[in-house]
Amino acid sequence: MQTERLTADNAGLERAVELLRAGETVAIPTETVYGLAADACNGQAVARIYAAKDRPSFNPLIAHLPSIDAARKIAYLPPQAEKLAQDFWPGALTLVLPLLESASVSPLVTAGLNTIGLRIPANPVAHDLLSRFDGPLAAPSANASGRISPTSAKHVLDRDGGLDGRIAAVLDAGICPVGVESTIIGWIDGRATLLRHGGIPRESIEASLGQELAIANALSDKPNAPGQLLSHYAPRATLRLNAHAANQGETYIDFAAPGPLSLSPTGDLTEAAAKLFDILRQADHFGRPIAVAPIPESGLGAAINDRLRRAAAPRP
Ligand code: TXA
Ligand code: MG
Repeated sequence: MQTERLTADNAGLERAVELLRAGETVAIPTETVYGLAADACNGQAVARIYAAKDRPSFNPLIAHLPSIDAARKIAYLPPQAEKLAQDFWPGALTLVLPLLESASVSPLVTAGLNTIGLRIPANPVAHDLLSRFDGPLAAPSANASGRISPTSAKHVLDRDGGLDGRIAAVLDAGICPVGVESTIIGWIDGRATLLRHGGIPRESIEASLGQELAIANALSDKPNAPGQLLSHYAPRATLRLNAHAANQGETYIDFAAPGPLSLSPTGDLTEAAAKLFDILRQADHFGRPIAVAPIPESGLGAAINDRLRRAAAPRP
């Protein structure tokens, strides 16, 4: 398959919608990472996502929508979800909600669960595409399963772990400003629970709800999210964390200090999140073991450290 490169103008958006309506997969920009989108109501189209990514089929996918009204047609939003939707949508937040029986989403999206992950992206191109498509688009990150997530159209097509030739098109709208995937919140035994650290800091969600979040056990043997599979976001090289300096032969990723591969010379966690996956890819190109400086655990640091720990974990 020849992967079409589409620009984020009227012609590109029209073509993307045409391909999606025909049941094809298109990589689309969001503010977090590029997603590999397909019509969530078309089982064959969703199956193409799993095939292109080589994704284990037990992982449910996030459905992307243009508005809260569209979300209410697919899932029930309990009062706390309504509050989070008002405060953080559109944006880097995914809510796992009870699926309405009337919703015509393919069971391949939910992996047969009676809940569904919903997100309204803030990226204007994504919003324009979703409004034109006028239905939910299932979209996991547009990378081969287990590999580093893409924050540019170039990453999507990368020879190593990329999807060139495996998907119908990529819609290029530049670099993703947030740089890590959405924060995922679900309700377990009625309690708001953090299922994956991501682009909205846990502290902001707790402030909005006025209560602490429960934290899903990241290493449970029945993962709720691939973010919870231990080895994920993996470069080819091995990764050493909390390294104050490089050992001989290591490529060093710095933080809060200048360096050829610094996540943020000034120690800004927002900048570090935005650069994380690109810098991991750059470091990986040297083909040597990678060492990463300590990152504070507050705010977006939690999502950064979560991705780094999984990148460092033993591979299956
Ligand atoms: O920022 C993001 O969230 C990106 C962009 C493209 O939107 N998407 C993304 O999708 O990261 P993906 O498929 O890589 O991660 C989706 C996560 C998975 O960890 C999945 O297990 C979880 O959402 N998820 C989806 N539906 C779920 C459900 N019903 N119950 C529990 N977890 C669910
Ligand atoms: Mg992913």
